[in-house]
Amino acid sequence: MQFEQKKFSDERPKSKALFERARKSLLGGVPMNWMAKWAGAFPPFVAEAHGAEFVDVDGHRYFDLCLGDTGAMTGHSPAATVAAVQQQVARGITLMLPNEDAVWAGEELQRRFGLPYWQFALTATDANRFSIRLARQITGRPKILVFNWCYHGSVDETFITLENGASQARRGNVGPPVDPSVTTKVVEFNDVAALEKALQPGDVACVLAEPAMTNVGIVHPEAGFHQQLRELTRKYNTLLIIDETHTICTSPGGYTRAENLDPDFLVFGKPIGGGVPGATYGFTQAVADAILARHNLEDCDVGGIGGTLAGNALSLAAMRATLEKVLTQEAFDRMIPLAGRWTDGVSKAIAEFDVPWHVTRLGCRAEYLFSRERPRNGTEAHNAMDFELERFMHLYAMNRGILLTPFHNMALMSPATKEEHVDHHSAVFREALHALVA
Ligand SMILES: Cc1ncc(COP(=O)(O)O)c(C=O)c1O
Repeated sequence: MQFEQKKFSDERPKSKALFERARKSLLGGVPMNWMAKWAGAFPPFVAEAHGAEFVDVDGHRYFDLCLGDTGAMTGHSPAATVAAVQQQVARGITLMLPNEDAVWAGEELQRRFGLPYWQFALTATDANRFSIRLARQITGRPKILVFNWCYHGSVDETFITLENGASQARRGNVGPPVDPSVTTKVVEFNDVAALEKALQPGDVACVLAEPAMTNVGIVHPEAGFHQQLRELTRKYNTLLIIDETHTICTSPGGYTRAENLDPDFLVFGKPIGGGVPGATYGFTQAVADAILARHNLEDCDVGGIGGTLAGNALSLAAMRATLEKVLTQEAFDRMIPLAGRWTDGVSKAIAEFDVPWHVTRLGCRAEYLFSRERPRNGTEAHNAMDFELERFMHLYAMNRGILLTPFHNMALMSPATKEEHVDHHSAVFREALHALVA
């Protein structure tokens, strides 16, 4: 690790100088606190990014598997999105008025996900928050339910964990407004009995769930879990919000379309605008009717749903171009086999060096975890994490021109990713294992 740290710093004098300058005006030397988490002593500062690659200010070229933690799953600056944004930016950026792009996007989202009504936000966090508020209003119930070690954005209600049967504020929860156990119930993913027990009292407005967990490594649902989740939420009149922000990696219609899920709400953010801020949430006819029945025109701008820049013209132009021309079925047909190739490369090295790890894939996303067994829930996945080891793997990769997501060992393929990128990762991953254990 010391060798890798020195190599990283020695080879990046310009990033280092920018970081030292940044520390005088930006808290911790970065514009957003998560950017402090890179494994080097400072982050590489970016000169430019195209497709699946970026170049730092010291001239190092990287194959990007992080892709802005899914915000750039489209590849960086996809041509169709750039062209649409260039056109729109000169024709009005934000107006508090709709345009035809909004209608096109609503119709396309209908087609992809099968839900009839759509609204827009700027972040997936907001789309989740708005869906939760609506679910509370419709059901008149106070609580929500999430799965242990989930992540759905900076939504206050979701920063809760379950330890030895007791729920508590998640470690690192900054300034919680209330004890999250007041607002939230938390159970393990794939635990149907615990789910039913939590829903039974009839005080849960909605379950907010990723269809497969992706933020604590990947945790797949067990056979029948989604059917039971849907049956139980219906049985106890709890609404179901499926957050597809990461699981959009499964197909153009996310996990929902690929596996025929039937949620009441669906949330999709991050790459929907090719990196231009935008997010959406859709819902059923029944939910739409329930919202409209409670709608109050005079107060609709101060009810806690929406935002000044949400649904702006620039964001909608970016979403339209991205949905129409970038995140297409053809793109997924290329991206998914690349994730398979990446998984095979990692799996081969794990077997060769017999480390107690495994690798798993979900559509065009893949991830290695530091456990032999596949986790069944968030706790098992969380127990398999090893911060020091993770940092070594990430730094080793970065020093050899590969960027992994700094929050776990996630790798994402974009439409611009190529086989040679993936093969470079396989070679570097093998070399890292050799350095660790040989
Ligand atoms: C599943 C999921 N939902 C929502 C979000 C929030 O996205 P944003 O930070 O863009 O609001 C994230 C962010 O990582 C996520 O992984």
